[in-house]
Amino acid sequence: MEKFKILEAMEKIKYEKPSISKINAGMPSKFGLPVKQKVISEIDGIKVSKLIEEYGSPLFVISEKTIREVFADAKRAFENRYPKVQFAWSYKTNYLDAVCSIYHDEGSWAEVVSGFEFEKALSNGVSGSQILFNGPDKSEADLIMAIENNACIHIDHFDELYLLIETSRKLQKKARVAIRVNLDAGVYPIWDRFGFNYENGDAWNAINRIMLAENLDLIGLHTHIGTYIIAQTAYAVAASKLANLYMAIHRKFDYWLKYIDLGGGFASKNTLKGAYMPGNETCPSFDDYAEAISNALISSEIPHENLPVLFLETGRALIDDAGYLLTTVIANKRLNSGRRSMVIDAGVNLLFTSFWYNLGVYPTHELGHAEESTIYGPLCMNIDVVRDAIVFPQVKTGEQLVIERVGAYNITQSMQFITYRPNVVLIDMEGKTHIIRKKESLETFKQAEENPKRK
Ligand SMILES: Cc1ncc(COP(=O)(O)O)c(C=O)c1O
Repeated sequence: MEKFKILEAMEKIKYEKPSISKINAGMPSKFGLPVKQKVISEIDGIKVSKLIEEYGSPLFVISEKTIREVFADAKRAFENRYPKVQFAWSYKTNYLDAVCSIYHDEGSWAEVVSGFEFEKALSNGVSGSQILFNGPDKSEADLIMAIENNACIHIDHFDELYLLIETSRKLQKKARVAIRVNLDAGVYPIWDRFGFNYENGDAWNAINRIMLAENLDLIGLHTHIGTYIIAQTAYAVAASKLANLYMAIHRKFDYWLKYIDLGGGFASKNTLKGAYMPGNETCPSFDDYAEAISNALISSEIPHENLPVLFLETGRALIDDAGYLLTTVIANKRLNSGRRSMVIDAGVNLLFTSFWYNLGVYPTHELGHAEESTIYGPLCMNIDVVRDAIVFPQVKTGEQLVIERVGAYNITQSMQFITYRPNVVLIDMEGKTHIIRKKESLETFKQAEENPKRK
């Protein structure tokens, strides 16, 4: 009798089809024996479960503390090595107002690549003269806005240059300009679709035309050699080539420019797909980049009293670490091939960088043995694969997971598709949480849509 009572009280275990799989846990890989399973149970002292309970799942979480710490590290690395350094926050990397405001509070200018981003920077209180305006698509209206606000316009191509000459003449106002230069820094393919080429003389030609134009004030030189550049030496080459142009301008026009802008492109600690080693072990530090760049500039021909201000438009290396995506397991599946897979509630529409990186996905507590698995998103699309192969412990439905290093390019490039984009929460320096972008609702779409009445 007693025995039956106990059996009744026991929870009925769900039947799962048995399968045989190789246990990889404990087996040495090419990096040696696996280390203890990494777990992320809280962010800045707040439990992941509490965040999800309060703000839902999936959920983007941004740590102000990490933003400020990483920024301080970058600033220190450069300011210890070069006398005049100015960061400009790359809006496209993450242009949530709350995020931009932190960088501006830390002293960053704004680096924008569209009229929309320009307006956003102005609305965040950035003075027009502290906006660097990049990008290949600047309409006449954009150029007028930039001239009226005294911004630094980084000219991308000859058509823009001629439009700017015409626009500034019509306005009878001076435009402050720089040119974007593309160059061979040993990083291939060369991003020669942006800016004027250094090696074929286009950059020098553009400089001469600007010097001749009555209403254009040439104040700087800009380049952005690419993104996730793991060879800091490439920046030394780029800096040397811009230093050559800087000196050539001085020689011909007896004129010193104000700045050299080396763009962004420093690698974040994420691991690129196909990389042999984890990104946090291979990516150069800010000190490495700063050493290469400052060496090139201070040992160039430029006299020390005429050294330009060094602008940096670093994006991903500054913010990737500060962003997390919290997610929940919807289902576990054993694929026909025998591989274990799971479906989570965050898909590639929120994780653009999952196409590039093997993003780190972690449980919130230690779990059982791990096995190679595939992590699918919820999108009902075959391409919705967050991780195609990850050694992961078995998790139950409802288990909460944390995807780390998603601060750059995921929120700005997120796509609304079949469901609402989630809340974005900032954890401030006091450990308080704030919604900085609200979860979408049907109303979000109704407001923007029109349905023409038909008879
Ligand atoms: C002109 C310019 N500056 C800065 C950045 C930021 O680059 P990253 O995030 O690689 O540092 C970009 C991004 O592509 C860019 O196009």
